Amino acid sequence: MLTWAWYTAILLVVGSTSAAYACANAPRWPRRLTAVALFSSLLLLLIVGARLWSQTYDAFGGDQPLELAHARVILFETPWGGGWLWQAGATALTCLVVMAWRWRWSLWPMAALCASATAFTTALTGHAVGMADQVWITVPAHGVHVIAAGWWIGALAIIMLVTAGSDFERDTPARVALAGVIDRFSPIAIGAVTTLLIAGSVATWQHVGSVAGFASPYGLALAGKIAAFCGAGLCGLYNWRVLRPQLSSSGDAARQLRTMAWLEVSLGVVALILTALVGTLSMPEPAGESSHTVAASRGSGFDDGFEAFEVGAERGLHGAGHHALGEKTQSLQLTRVVNLDA
Ligand code: HEM
Repeated sequence: MLTWAWYTAILLVVGSTSAAYACANAPRWPRRLTAVALFSSLLLLLIVGARLWSQTYDAFGGDQPLELAHARVILFETPWGGGWLWQAGATALTCLVVMAWRWRWSLWPMAALCASATAFTTALTGHAVGMADQVWITVPAHGVHVIAAGWWIGALAIIMLVTAGSDFERDTPARVALAGVIDRFSPIAIGAVTTLLIAGSVATWQHVGSVAGFASPYGLALAGKIAAFCGAGLCGLYNWRVLRPQLSSSGDAARQLRTMAWLEVSLGVVALILTALVGTLSMPEPAGESSHTVAASRGSGFDDGFEAFEVGAERGLHGAGHHALGEKTQSLQLTRVVNLDA
């Protein structure tokens, strides 16, 4: 749930900056847009903080109250903590730049840069960074993939939000303004979908490995996500090719276009829910490897949790037997309980 909320907030922040490009010539909506961007970035900062708490709880939580020292172990003595520091730094910077952007519109490209950098840091925790031999390809693929998802689905959600409330069926100037926004958004969406698909295919090839890998729980959840992506893509295609040309002259086309756009966003949300699920599952096992080898070598983050737990034990911190399964904050009950006071 927290991972899904994190992805959603990232997509909204990135999306608000690409929606800024689309809305730049429409006099009605820019002010609303910066308000939504600021709200999304502050929400993102809150979620990033909650992720540290959640990861610390998964490693050490239980009967004992958590202390700052527990979080310090996660932050400074695990690879996950290193990735989190980049994410938190980029998010805080984005919040500041978005505040400045609200004050001066011309700063939106800077906000776009910071938001995209924040999206890129997503890859620094999770499966991408856990694939020791392939990080040079998995980290850029995941990073670019998330940026592209924001420039498409995030931006569409923001456009639908900030343009809500106008009577597009009767208000012709509003409809013409909306058509202008869609015209500027379409090339961005096409570029973003193409990039998303290429980067997603690279990540799939790295993580699934073979067609047989799609029969695993990981592969099945990923296949569901790809189906949701196809549905969203079809909605976008219908809006672009069929409804947009009628938009300026037909109130009914405006109503249909908005309904289809919300469907497109909803399917994107389904894809994000499945992504959060995929992140908690072990990647399919290549032929001839045991599941433990796969967990350790292919980046489930298994080692990370042990590391935090054991470093914490060395420091005399209580561990109740929970252990963070990498980025996705799954807890796995360990069979032993560490209590160094005993
Ligand atoms: C609506 C479309 C999509 C959205 C919103 C989306 C979003 C995301 C996000 C946010 C991540 C997390 C990256 C991370 O935590 O490092 C991700 C990972 C991934 N995506 Fe997508 N994606 C979409 C479509 C696709 C498609 C079409 C493919 C395949 C062709 C794909 C394949 C993957 C793979 C393999 C991962 C890595 C999962 C893992 O951590 O094990 N995605 N996606």
